[in-house]
Amino acid sequence: KAPPGVSVDPLRMVGKELKFLSGNIRQLLGSGHPALDKVAKYYTRSEGKHMRPLLVLLMSQATAVDPRKDLTRTPNTAPVDISLSPLSILEDTNPDTDRLVPEPPKTQSFVGDENILPNQRRLAEITELIHTASLLHDDVIDNAEMRRGSASANIEFGNKMAVLAGDFLLGRASVALARLLDPQVIELMATVINNLVQGEFMQLKNTAKDEAKPVYTDNTVEYYLQKTYLKTASLISKSCRSAAVLGCSAPEVVEAAYAYGRNLGLAFQLVDDMLDYTLTEAELGKPAGADLELGLATAPLLFAWKSNPELGPMVGRKFGREGDVQRARELVYQSNGVEQTRALAQDYADKAVAAISDFPDSDAKAGLIEMAEKTMKRRK
Ligand code: FPP
Ligand code: MG
Ligand code: MG
Repeated sequence: KAPPGVSVDPLRMVGKELKFLSGNIRQLLGSGHPALDKVAKYYTRSEGKHMRPLLVLLMSQATAVDPRKDLTRTPNTAPVDISLSPLSILEDTNPDTDRLVPEPPKTQSFVGDENILPNQRRLAEITELIHTASLLHDDVIDNAEMRRGSASANIEFGNKMAVLAGDFLLGRASVALARLLDPQVIELMATVINNLVQGEFMQLKNTAKDEAKPVYTDNTVEYYLQKTYLKTASLISKSCRSAAVLGCSAPEVVEAAYAYGRNLGLAFQLVDDMLDYTLTEAELGKPAGADLELGLATAPLLFAWKSNPELGPMVGRKFGREGDVQRARELVYQSNGVEQTRALAQDYADKAVAAISDFPDSDAKAGLIEMAEKTMKRRK
């Protein structure tokens, strides 16, 4: 355990685990069809931040050392039979054998952390699969041209392939989820998938009501926060919760894990929405200021709207008229929309840390706290 006051690098805590994660995910994505393989694995080539699996692994460790357990259940310590071998859709089309055959155990010896259960490790991979699927679909919806500094999948392979690859990832995630053999976790993670769609729908509509000239009300920020929960925080919170469930933590620990993920997820997306106004394209690895161009009114704009009613009609027409984007951006910079967004994100980051204050001290807990700090400091 690190001495008090010394910050822990969360990556160091589970770095070795994460090294195996990408390989395992690629193994999960074998399709037997070379073209599908290529598209499905496309977003696993570049090393993403792996923020969601990192949180799952840290939460697994942090709750493992917590003595508060649900004594009515026993943790499943068995290796998860999940080595999904590539399903050959070219050679094997017999419906009886057209299912996933476990591969023989790998000779490569990976001694994972003793405080992480095999099914929690698999959960970490599932969260990344669901996230990556949502990015494939998101880039189609957003007409994105770049992702992590390279051409997005929709540009590289076309919309049809990108959508199907996303669906394939969700199918694989569902199979892996079933193999966790935990109905509660299956339900949680399945709900995440529909939450992502609900959030995306709320975002497409932008405001609660269909009106051409919406006005700023108390409901405006509330709608945005609900959308943000569904679009971003649901995956993080429900996967943190699932990690605690798989570890057979006591109900109050499960709730704390969920509250941590929910608040961290909200902080994360608020920072994301803020960076869209403050960073350059080179820093982001994708076009800056993209949200207004997409017609999206995110937190910085909503805070600016409160004191600038002229933004209402622009929100209503999704900044579609010539000069709207430029004018809206000016009003955001003139108001304190960016600062208010940062302050709200900080509130949520603080709440995330407070949520796990009852956890016993451990390097993993310190790592979770560090993740909240990193979320606020991140520049990409
Ligand atoms: C990125 O947001 C996208 C999401 C957080 C979720 C997108 C969800 C869907 C497209 C719903 C359907 C998909 C699945 C798999 C259920 P962003 O566009 O704000 O961020 P970006 O700048 O990274 O593109
Ligand atoms: Mg997008
Ligand atoms: Mg989007």
